[in-house]
Amino acid sequence: MTQLSATPIKDALQSTAPMDAIRVQGWVRTRRDTKDFSFIELNDGSSPRNLQVIAKSSLPNYAEVQRLNTGASISVSGALVASQGKGQKWELVADRIEIVGTADDSYPLQKKGHTPEFMREIAHLRPRSSLFGCVFRVRSRLAFAAHQFFQDRGFVYVHTPIITGSDCEGAGELFRVSTIDIENPPRKNGEIDYAQDFFARQTYLTVSGQLEAEAFACALTNVYTFGPTFRAENSNTSRHASEFWMIEPEMAFCDLTGNMDLAEELVKYLIADARRQCPEELELFAKFVDKELLARLDFVIERPFQRITYTEAVDLLRKSGENFEFPIDYGSNLQSEHERWLTEKHFKCPVTVFNFPKEIKPFYMRSNEDGRTVAAIDLLVPGIGEIVGGSQREERLEMLEDNMRRHNMDPADYKWYLDLRRYGTVPHSGFGLGFERMLMFITGVSNIRDVIPFARTPGSAEF
Ligand code: 4AD
Ligand code: MG
Repeated sequence: MTQLSATPIKDALQSTAPMDAIRVQGWVRTRRDTKDFSFIELNDGSSPRNLQVIAKSSLPNYAEVQRLNTGASISVSGALVASQGKGQKWELVADRIEIVGTADDSYPLQKKGHTPEFMREIAHLRPRSSLFGCVFRVRSRLAFAAHQFFQDRGFVYVHTPIITGSDCEGAGELFRVSTIDIENPPRKNGEIDYAQDFFARQTYLTVSGQLEAEAFACALTNVYTFGPTFRAENSNTSRHASEFWMIEPEMAFCDLTGNMDLAEELVKYLIADARRQCPEELELFAKFVDKELLARLDFVIERPFQRITYTEAVDLLRKSGENFEFPIDYGSNLQSEHERWLTEKHFKCPVTVFNFPKEIKPFYMRSNEDGRTVAAIDLLVPGIGEIVGGSQREERLEMLEDNMRRHNMDPADYKWYLDLRRYGTVPHSGFGLGFERMLMFITGVSNIRDVIPFARTPGSAEF
């Protein structure tokens, strides 16, 4: 059985002419018997649509075909002919049906319309549903589009490490990587002696590839990294995952405005690409997930995003007259409800907020002349809130060392990072786009757990 000779069902459905001999393979969605033949709806994950197979009672193994359950896998050879029935252009009249793998009544996806919660419990089977098939095809396409965006612009793809010794965001939300015997750790002066650990130091899963991307930007000028990142943050929300993917460009000789421009361009590019490349999938989302989806996506592609400073955002929120759960004051973080008010109620479009108070942002952000704010950006979108976080980086050695001390970091631990400011320092900027949040925005799917193949969230890492 060679997979290559089979026709993807998507291609069969889009055929421009009948075909005498074609072979498809996939999983049975439904089987319905009439007196002389059976209808089998077959799906191979290439399209949200199924191919209708006609299995005549004259097939030598028709008795077995009549026992085929939802979930079974088959390979079908036959003729692609114009369909008599409604709803499809082509159907496949089978000469031969090979039953590859049977499935019994315990197959959990017997019917449509399961809740997202139920589907999460069968994360290994949910890609076989139309909706999740669409989500993960869009995810694949979007990853490709992200690479295309940067490669077309001459950015160099850098594989930043997954295991790292530094806490880029300084939020202490790190998963430790260690081979120390937790039952009996080596100790020195009463404390665990990490000098005896695998890397002879403390190491963690990375929260961001930024610091290492900066090193490469300060050599190759425009770079990006795109990989998994990990946060041991105990937030159980629909927008937070403990393992998620981030697209992080980093640009030398680039200031905050250049950074905002690129973030806006990237978000629009990814939406436009999905609009063009995944029409069937987006239509399915518009039908079953979010009726407003296509109109909202088109609107976002067409209009410039709003740009306001953090101070302006706080003023607007305070004058809004809204009764927020978290009161807003200068110096506090924007909460999800604030972000949503700005994008959904006030501006009714994506908003880039910039120049945040230095106290609420990480050590690496560049201090502004006012002494109070740093050159940070957060790009907010309707329905989700923050989708991009970034900044211009502090390129001045002494300022950066001061920032580190203010954040209770020891500059000696970051010698390599400070070297970038010692040797040929340049203004540089970058940001991180949360890949799953972007997917949520494009698909309308409202929970991050449903746009990542196997979600890791606090208390949950099954599969
Ligand atoms: O704002 P964040 O924390 O920024 C950084 O990590 C920077 N070092 C990026 C950079 O400048 N290179 O995260 C960036 C984006 C957020 O805007 C959000 O979209 C996403 O990553 N993100 C998460 N997505 C899912 N689950 C989480 N727990 C996330 N935390 C951040
Ligand atoms: Mg952020």
